[in-house]
Amino acid sequence: MKTELIVIGKLDKDAAQIRRAGQILREGGLVAFPTETVYGLGGDALNPLSSRRIYAAKGRPQDNPLIVHICRREDLGRIAARIPREAEKLAERFWPGPLTMVLPRADRVPRETTGGLDTVAVRMPDHPVALALIDAAGGFVAAPSANTSGKPSPTLAKYVLEDMDGRIDMILDGGPVGIGLESTIVDMTSEIPTILRPGYITQEMLEETLGRVETDRALLSPDSCQPPKAPGMKYRHYAPAGELTVVAGPQEAVVEWINGRLRSHRAAGRKTGVICTEETKGRYLADQVKNAGKRDDEAGIARELYRILREFDDEQVEVMYSEAFDTAGVGQAVMNRLLKAAGHHVENVQ
Ligand code: TXA
Ligand code: MG
Repeated sequence: MKTELIVIGKLDKDAAQIRRAGQILREGGLVAFPTETVYGLGGDALNPLSSRRIYAAKGRPQDNPLIVHICRREDLGRIAARIPREAEKLAERFWPGPLTMVLPRADRVPRETTGGLDTVAVRMPDHPVALALIDAAGGFVAAPSANTSGKPSPTLAKYVLEDMDGRIDMILDGGPVGIGLESTIVDMTSEIPTILRPGYITQEMLEETLGRVETDRALLSPDSCQPPKAPGMKYRHYAPAGELTVVAGPQEAVVEWINGRLRSHRAAGRKTGVICTEETKGRYLADQVKNAGKRDDEAGIARELYRILREFDDEQVEVMYSEAFDTAGVGQAVMNRLLKAAGHHVENVQ
């Protein structure tokens, strides 16, 4: 299969291209597209064949359900069997935006799309290209992140092409994404709404609208025996090929400890990398030092993280260290993804 890469500039100018992409989706094909979080790999959510194709293109286990993307709030009622009042409140406050809600599945959503579950995950993305494409495709687009299973989610169209060239029909290039981490997922079918995956929309923000909100316990303690409720969170996602360790502690101690390790790795001839911050750049002895941004700018760090992890892979870095980041705001999601990438390998230094 030949994968077409189409750059979308202005929507009115490129309306014909969007219509064509929508037609591909209506016919059961696959089109990757930008959202405000990461690039998605889209197929018609109501066509079981399309969902099967998505799993095949990503090399993704079929028990890992897809998120259905909509472009109008009122379409929620067509794919959810029941919409609790709380879900309506969240949709009003946060859609379009980086929030996915898990709701009871309406019969028209095939089980192929929901990984066999009786619930469906839904979100309305905040990106003009995504919204126009969903509309052109008929309103319901199933889209996981557009990476090969196990790789960091793509924040640029070129990363989608790296992973999906020859596997899908088309990629819409809408430039770099704004957020850089996947949406917050909240389960609206439990008695108390429960966060299954942290993201840009934080527990505090959800609580402002709903009152009480919980976080899936399996996310808080990696050693928990409970499986996570979002099937995807159980896989070792976002993993770079090399070995990554997160180092926490006071800044000076962290720099010194990492440099000590780097010296011995370099003496052994290993290629090394460090994820640092604006505050510590220029202080590490690694072959590749990547600056994730200012320490107090969690949103900026979120935007850079996946690009950095992919670059380490491209550069065939073998041993990596990352500073730990603050968990305020979107920082919680940053640390969640970073710890998963590191297989929860953390060093606390004093
Ligand atoms: O920001 C995002 O959410 C991006 C963009 C493209 O919208 N999409 C994305 O999709 O991250 P994906 O497939 O990479 O992650 C979806 C996650 C998986 O962990 C999956 O297990 C969970 O959502 N999920 C989907 N349906 C679910 C359901 N019915 N119940 C629980 N978890 C569900
Ligand atoms: Mg994904």
